Parts: sequence; structure tokens; C-alpha cells
Amino acid sequence: MIVFSLLLLSLAVPAFGQGNVTSIVGTWASGSQNVITGAGFAQPANESFTYPPTTGLSYSFTGDGFYEIARYRMTGNGPSPTCITGVMNWCHGTYQLLANGSILMTPFGDGYQQIQDPCAAISNFMENYNDTELYPLWTIYQDPVKGYTLQLYQWDGTPLPPQWQVSSSPNMLPTQALRNVTPPTQNAVVLNANAGERRWGVASLTGVFTVVSGLAVASLLL
Ligand SMILES: *[C@@H]1O[C@H](CO)[C@@H](O)[C@H](O)[C@H]1NC(C)=O
Ligand SMILES: *[C@@H]1O[C@H](CO)[C@@H](O)[C@H](O)[C@H]1NC(C)=O
Ligand SMILES: *[C@@H]1O[C@H](CO)[C@@H](O)[C@H](O)[C@H]1NC(C)=O
Ligand SMILES: *[C@@H]1O[C@H](CO)[C@@H](O)[C@H](O)[C@H]1NC(C)=O
Repeated sequence: MIVFSLLLLSLAVPAFGQGNVTSIVGTWASGSQNVITGAGFAQPANESFTYPPTTGLSYSFTGDGFYEIARYRMTGNGPSPTCITGVMNWCHGTYQLLANGSILMTPFGDGYQQIQDPCAAISNFMENYNDTELYPLWTIYQDPVKGYTLQLYQWDGTPLPPQWQVSSSPNMLPTQALRNVTPPTQNAVVLNANAGERRWGVASLTGVFTVVSGLAVASLLL
């Protein structure tokens, strides 16, 4: 099983970490590429979103250390098929390519997300989103059909959906805080959301297809 996952990964992803075949600078998007960073997704000035026709995720990076993320995800809720939760998430900040092959993304603090859950006590709310995100492993490879492909791995080793290059110049909102956020004291909406025993951290935001075993990931990181 472990050998199989390793094999699968090494087939799908020919080069790891710094072995990228092109620069990470630019805009990348998964699936049908309807979710794209920049002005078409989030409008921070009035804390709103433009909903894309399909779910997906998109990352952009500048050459001078700024990033932006746009994510739209829907999740089914087990036995209640009508309880489909939608999450729209946007954030930006500065990133570092660490010497050990990880990427560290530190947000500006103006990120936000909208949760829509028809079966929750509060069915639709906005909250601030300011999680620092560490991606332990990443690579860029050439897909024969899709071209340059960015593969990011989450903190627990699970791969994100592959993202294809949209453009080699980043499509992003201005790389500075775009709305005023009063730091950490949580507002009433967030407290209510927490009372509903939900925490919408980064793990809830990413569509994960393959769970790689911890051992396999550890081997990859050696
Ligand atoms: C990999 O990406 C980094 C960061 O964008 C860049 O500095 C480096 O030149 C890239 N490597 C190759 C082989 O293109
Ligand atoms: C927010 O601002 C954008 C761009 O100015 C505008 O198109 C949109 O209608 C506004 N949305 C809300 C909810 O005010
Ligand atoms: C957002 O997170 C960063 C990094 O941890 C921190 O420096 C900043 O103060 C936070 N901003 C807010 C508004 O919470
Ligand atoms: C790389 O270094 C950072 C900072 O020390 C650390 O948080 C991260 O876990 C390291 N990544 C790996 C894959 O060990």
C-alpha cells in the first residue's frame, strides 16, 4: 500500500521541491479554472464575493514575495444530502520558499470567508480568515495535456488538486491590506459559529482526493 502510494506519486510527480520545471510566479487554478485569484473573485472593500459557476481553488505568486489564494468548496454532509455546505475563502499576504522545500504563507490579516450551510443554526455568515499556511512540499511539472502544473501538499501530506498555469504573470488584487480588521477579538458572528461547533480552518477548504499515509509522506520528505 505504501509502496503503491509512493509509486503513484513518483509517477504523477516527476520532480519534488525545488526541482520545478518553471517558476512558481504567476496564476494557477484547479479543475475547470472558474475560480481565479484577482478582482473577479473577492471584493475586499465591501467584503463580498462573486460566485464562480463551479468550485475550485487558485493560487497566485509574485516574483517579490506576495501570494493570493481564492477557494470555493462545497461539501456534502453525510446522511443529509440536502445539507451541502459552501465555503468561499479569500486571503493574501507574503510567502517564503524555505530551503527545505516548504512554502510558508503569512497573511496580511484582511482575509475573509463566507460559509453557507442550510442546515446550521446560522445558515449564512462571513468571518475573518487569517490562518498562516505551511505547505511542506510542492513541485511544478509539465503535464502533457495541461502544461505547467503546480502540485501543493498540505501540512499532513495530502496533495491539493493539481493547478494548471493560467498565466505566468500573476492576476492579483493589490498586494497590501485592503480592508480594516480589528485584530484578534472575535466578533459576535464568529462566536456564534464556534458555538455551532465548527471551525473553518484550512483543512475544510481544500478538496482532497488522495490520502497519502504518514509513512509514505515521511519517506518523501527524507
Ligand atoms: C523554481 O521556482 C523558483 C521560485 O519561483 C525560481 O527561483 C527557480 O528559478 C525555479 N527553478 C527553475 C528550475 O526554474
Ligand atoms: C461590492 O463592490 C463591488 C465592486 O465595487 C460591487 O460590484 C458589488 O455589487 C458590491 N457588493 C455588495 C454586496 O455591496
Ligand atoms: C494575521 O496573522 C498574521 C500572522 O500570524 C499576524 O501578524 C497579524 O497580526 C494577523 N492579523 C490579524 C488582523 O489578526
Ligand atoms: C521546513 O522548515 C519549516 C520552518 O523551520 C518547518 O516549519 C517545516 O515543517 C519544514 N518542512 C519540512 C518538510 O520539514
